[in-house]
Parts: sequence; C-alpha cells; structure tokens
Amino acid sequence: MNDNFYVPQQAIISEIIVENSVVNTYRVVLTDLDSSSAMQTMLAGQFVMVSVPHCGEAPISLSSLATPESATFNLTVRKSGQLTDSLHELCCGDTIGVRGPYGQPFDLHEMVGKSPLFIAGGIGIAPLRPVIEHCSDNRSSFGKVALLYGCKNATEFCFKNDLNRWQQAGITCQLTVDQAEQDWAGEVGLVTHHLTAQTIANHDQFYVCGPGVMIRFVIERLEQLGVKREQIVTTLERHMKCGVGVCGHCHLEEKLVCVDGPVFRGTNLPKLTKL
Ligand SMILES: Cc1cc2nc3c(=O)[nH]c(=O)nc-3n(C[C@H](O)[C@H](O)[C@H](O)COP(=O)(O)OP(=O)(O)OC[C@H]3O[C@@H](n4cnc5c(N)ncnc54)[C@H](O)[C@@H]3O)c2cc1C
Ligand code: FES
Repeated sequence: MNDNFYVPQQAIISEIIVENSVVNTYRVVLTDLDSSSAMQTMLAGQFVMVSVPHCGEAPISLSSLATPESATFNLTVRKSGQLTDSLHELCCGDTIGVRGPYGQPFDLHEMVGKSPLFIAGGIGIAPLRPVIEHCSDNRSSFGKVALLYGCKNATEFCFKNDLNRWQQAGITCQLTVDQAEQDWAGEVGLVTHHLTAQTIANHDQFYVCGPGVMIRFVIERLEQLGVKREQIVTTLERHMKCGVGVCGHCHLEEKLVCVDGPVFRGTNLPKLTKL
C-alpha cells in the first residue's frame, strides 16, 4: 500500500444496482490485499473520497461496509456533476480510485437499548443504510425502530428490496412523496408534515440525513415537538478537497465537516441557518 494517503487505492466495480434514473449503487472490491486490510475499519456514517482518472474526486458515503471477511462495499451515487456523471458512465469490471474511510461515524454502542427514528430525504438514506442494517440484524437489541423516508416522487426511492426486508425485521418504514402520482398508495407531503407527536412517540433518538434545508426544518420541527438537541444526530455535506482536515474547504463556522463530521450530534451542530 502507498504511504501517501492522497494516492487512492484501486477498486473494481463488481456490480451496479440501478436505484432510479439518476442514482446507482456500485458494489466495489479493493484489488490488493494490503488495501483491503486497511479498509476493514470502515464504520457506519464514514465516507470515502472516490476518483475517476481525469474526472476528479468527491466524497461518497459508505452505503455498506467492508468486513474482515470481505473487501467489498457499496457506494450509492447520485448523478450530480463532474465525478458522479463519469461514475455513471462506468460498467462492471471498470476500476475507480478510493481513499479513506474518513470522518466521524455513528455511535452504534450508544444506540443499544434505544428506540431510534431514522428520518431520511432522497439520497440521504445512503449513510443511514449501514445503521438501519445494524438495527435489522440485531433487532432485539433495540426498542421501537422506525424509518420516515421522503422523496420527490415514488420512482426516487432507493434500496426498495431493503425496505421490504427491514419492514419484515420489525422496522416500521413510512414512505412519503412530495407529489403523488396516480398509482401511489403511500403517504404524501414533506417529511416534516409527518412528524407529529404520534410519529415520534416512544422514540428517544432521532437520526436525520438529507439535503441541508430538510435537516434544518426537521430539527426545528422535532424541537417544536419537545425533542432535545442531544437526542438528535445528523450528517452534513460540504464540498471537499482533501477529506482529511488540511485544506479548509469544507468548513462550516469553526467546524471542518470532513474531520469533525460528517456525523454531528445535535448539541455540536453549527448554526442551523448555515445548513
Ligand atoms: C460526507 C459526504 C458524503 C456524501 N455522500 C454522498 C453519497 O453517498 N452519494 C452521493 O451521490 N453524493 C454524496 N455526497 C455529495 C457529493 O460528494 C457531491 O454532490 C459532489 O459535489 C459530487 O461531485 P461531482 O464532481 O459529481 O459534482 P460537482 O462537479 O462537484 O458538482 C455538484 C454540484 O455542486 C456545485 N458545486 C461545485 N463546486 C462547488 C463549490 N465549491 N461550492 C458550491 N457548489 C459547488 C456544482 O455547480 C453542482 O451543482 C456526499 C458529500 C459529503 C460531504
Ligand atoms: S476537505 Fe479539506 S479540510 Fe475538509
């Protein structure tokens, strides 16, 4: 393995799952044995810097984690610019660069015995997926577990098979769309609209992931309902260059999202107006 951490490790795309017209999940496997052992410490909530030669580099959350048994992990990518557009051009067998994992993870130990409500908007479900999987795999270690997941329309929901599996494992999954089409039988309205005293009843931890504006309004709504900041955990996004606290590109007030985050506890959040 190269000692310079700016040099990416090589990973091969082994599978591409089309989530919707603009989001793919890439199952990737690290190519050399040293690299794979370096990736064994991946934790839920962390991200990797992903690169394609001549197309740039961008932070992408781990939507599944490599384990000591397997150097394979998932990246769920929305087509939104130079790097992500080029990723969407790739096929199985193509190689990408990966460095990391970086950033503060979710604290899974602190969750034991608690009743988490996961609140996700759009691609914000990606960093939450390993945490929800953890709850699903260890269901008896938690109290009430629920997911409130909002997208613009029904075609945008990611991880559709997982949603069914989680529901069967005893995780309540409530899906809502901003705009309903004719064949949509689920909920309609922004996630904030569905945050009521009844929805949050018996939950004691709130995990919020999505666009900055959604995070801001969800936290405001939770606080109106009496939830305390220390019960809220969120992930923030900022444009990044180095990913390791050197360049200052990702600053948000006095915080650097790449090293102080991307997972932030409510009490440690920069001002909501800046999200
Ligand atoms: C910790 C973290 C985890 C993330 N996880 C995921 C994930 O799992 N999946 C996913 O799809 N995305 C994820 N993102 C978002 C992703 O990294 C960004 O969308 C990234 O910009 C995509 O790179 P790109 O080269 O494709 O797009 P870019 O070329 O960077 O363009 C994306 C958009 O940002 C604008 N932009 C470009 N540079 C700047 C700048 N300096 N300041 C403001 N706006 C700018 C562009 O105009 C465009 O609208 C994550 C971001 C962070 C910080
Ligand atoms: S991306 Fe360079 S300091 Fe965060």
